[in-house]
Amino acid sequence: MVLVGKQSFDVDRVLLALLATCLRLHALLHHSYTLPPGALLTGGERFDYIVVGAGAAGAAAAARLAAAGAQVLLVEAGTDPTYISKIPSAAMFLLGSELDWQYQTIPNNVSCLSSRGGQCRLSRGKCLGGSTSINYMLYTRGNRQDFHDMPVSGWTWDDLKPYFLKYEGLQDLNLLPSSSKPYHNTSGTMRIGFFDDSQNPWHSRLMRSYMSLGLPENLDVNADSQIGVSQLIGYVHDGERMSTARGYLAREDVKRTLKIAKNALCTGVIIDRRNIARGVTVVQGLLKLKVYARREVILSAGAIGTPQILMLSGVGPAKHLHNLGIPIKVDLPGVGANMTDHVLPLILAQVDQSNRIHDDVKKLATWTDQLAQLLVTRSGPLTSNGLTDVSVFMNSHCYDFTRRKLLNVSFDGSDCELPNLQIIHAYIERNLLPAAKHVFQRITGFNDDVVEQVVKANENHALIVISPVVLSPHSVGYVRLASSDPGVHPAIFPNYLSDERDVDEMMFSIRIIEQLMETPLFRKRNATLLHLELPGCPGISEDRSGYWRCYSRHVTSAVFHSAGTCALGAVVDARLRVRGVRRLRAADLGVLPRAPRASTAAAAIALGERLADMLLEDDTAAGL
Ligand SMILES: Cc1cc2nc3c(=O)[nH]c(=O)nc-3n(C[C@H](O)[C@H](O)[C@H](O)COP(=O)(O)OP(=O)(O)OC[C@H]3O[C@@H](n4cnc5c(N)ncnc54)[C@H](O)[C@@H]3O)c2cc1C
Ligand SMILES: *[C@@H]1O[C@H](CO)[C@@H](O)[C@H](O)[C@H]1NC(C)=O
Ligand SMILES: *[C@@H]1O[C@H](CO)[C@@H](O)[C@H](O)[C@H]1NC(C)=O
Ligand SMILES: *[C@@H]1O[C@H](CO)[C@@H](O)[C@H](O)[C@H]1NC(C)=O
Ligand SMILES: *[C@@H]1O[C@H](CO)[C@@H](O)[C@H](O)[C@H]1NC(C)=O
Ligand SMILES: *[C@@H]1O[C@H](CO)[C@@H](O)[C@H](O)[C@H]1NC(C)=O
Repeated sequence: MVLVGKQSFDVDRVLLALLATCLRLHALLHHSYTLPPGALLTGGERFDYIVVGAGAAGAAAAARLAAAGAQVLLVEAGTDPTYISKIPSAAMFLLGSELDWQYQTIPNNVSCLSSRGGQCRLSRGKCLGGSTSINYMLYTRGNRQDFHDMPVSGWTWDDLKPYFLKYEGLQDLNLLPSSSKPYHNTSGTMRIGFFDDSQNPWHSRLMRSYMSLGLPENLDVNADSQIGVSQLIGYVHDGERMSTARGYLAREDVKRTLKIAKNALCTGVIIDRRNIARGVTVVQGLLKLKVYARREVILSAGAIGTPQILMLSGVGPAKHLHNLGIPIKVDLPGVGANMTDHVLPLILAQVDQSNRIHDDVKKLATWTDQLAQLLVTRSGPLTSNGLTDVSVFMNSHCYDFTRRKLLNVSFDGSDCELPNLQIIHAYIERNLLPAAKHVFQRITGFNDDVVEQVVKANENHALIVISPVVLSPHSVGYVRLASSDPGVHPAIFPNYLSDERDVDEMMFSIRIIEQLMETPLFRKRNATLLHLELPGCPGISEDRSGYWRCYSRHVTSAVFHSAGTCALGAVVDARLRVRGVRRLRAADLGVLPRAPRASTAAAAIALGERLADMLLEDDTAAGL
């Protein structure tokens, strides 16, 4: 609070309002790209291809098909992303917003125990660009070994590499070592590059402190080795997010033959008596419509949406469909089965202690400065991603806790070049949360008790999120229908931490983070991990390991990299054709049996690219 005469007002609220106004202004001033207008369907229309879902994979597939001259309908449940989606530093505020499907998981009683109702939040983008319009924009492809033992042939890393390269428009190749060259393309449609400087001193402190623990500095996680501490490249260009809506759907060469039905929920695939896909059913506004595909229907509704649509159409586990009274077209037990996802405990470090009143006036000046910079030059801290582009990949089994060093040999024979851990970061300005408590609750889904504790810690300290992601989880869950009504969210049961080994991995990671706190740069600034008091957990001083195991099961968060629900082999064949139905394919992250050991948008986009290629090849073979 700042006292002005006898009046008092809350600086943070004023700042948030100011920020919102400026962002709107910014959006009005800069027409960096325009998305095509939406098409209102009347029913009965025919297209060469119908693609469902305008996300990472779907936007890529639809745009490539349209650019090749095909008549394409793209059906998307959401509409254009809002202006906030363009601002890199605002990414976190999109969780739980109107651009998010806001799924909640079914409780499994061993994870997300501090979330309301024991349900984990599962965010997915619901707009053009899909999750690429709300994600953290980190560009990572994964490890070549992630594609080593696929259940079908033709899906090795070398088979996929051309599709990763095809869309990559790397603007900063000159900042990478020359050995990186063969791994990149500078002219693809998805412009990417380094985020702007966050001007946060913790950025370099974090990187230097990890290096003091023996982690190499890795200038390019998308080249020879993934291991080390890195400043990641992001899906940003000219200070704004590069979603697949911007990268693919705003292109002039696709607008001629691509129609996009916005606010259009696909409720099923029309499958005829001979099990041939003929089109899809759609609800747009108050209308229930049928639209038809001359060639093929492609499902790219994501790892949750695609199995939901398949099951609504009678393609899935027969017994489950029978229970819901859905006529069975194909008994495919793999639909919705074997869902895996990366998972993390939210770990918070308290830093930068200071007294609140003293700082408020200074903060007002800084924010005004940053907004001016954004408006005038489209640069500055608001176009950065804070500390989020600082990332660590490592195999925790190669870390020597006694010597406090990452080694290049493991104590159990595991491959040190194959990461099992990524550590991701974010910076929460001191005293931000007290004014934004409800936003924080919306983003995290945590219960009042945990929210209060975090808000209280934030009153006098800045907080650094230092969260270890389990990259090769053993826990497996599923997606099923909760109802035969397409408007009802499916039953999502990721079953996080049901396999004790995933908690074991978290314990290794948390110990490494504790050692990070003891490195000179952290110690000098009195950094401490926030030890939340959690019901039913032992105190940290009595039982350190018991405390953190319990903590991990309480303050759990999904990483939103769900895969496996429409897996290659089980549900689709090597050419992404859904088993048992002709002229129906699926391409999104759900077709990968497991998420790559990294953030996943790059792989999803590559899948969309590859699908388009396969369809065009098949057309050529058929003489079309
Ligand atoms: C908060 C968050 C942060 C993330 N951070 C990163 C990151 O930093 N880097 C990274 O690489 N990855 C990140 N990811 C993951 C990445 O964005 C996803 O893995 C990727 O976008 C998945 O692509 P997809 O094509 O499978 O699905 P999506 O991109 O989710 O697209 C699916 C689309 O289908 C639409 N849809 C669904 N059902 C229907 C229906 N019935 N009818 C019509 N349309 C429908 C959806 O609205 C959506 O537009 C993040 C994800 C989230 C949610
Ligand atoms: C979790 O606990 C609730 C309430 O006791 C119970 O109904 C539910 O079946 C449990 N879920 C699992 C997956 O064990
Ligand atoms: C790089 O991108 C351009 C433009 O999209 C494309 O023509 C080219 O084939 C890509 N290069 C590689 C190696 O994929
Ligand atoms: C799930 O995955 C396992 C391991 O890959 C496989 O054996 C099993 O058949 C899959 N389940 C279904 C229903 O596809
Ligand atoms: C570890 O060893 C492998 C194989 O010798 C080598 O390729 C890699 O660069 C080394 N990694 C580090 C971080 O030193
Ligand atoms: C750290 O704590 C010590 C002792 O409480 C204090 O003297 C010092 O000023 C603190 N340093 C910082 C950077 O807050």
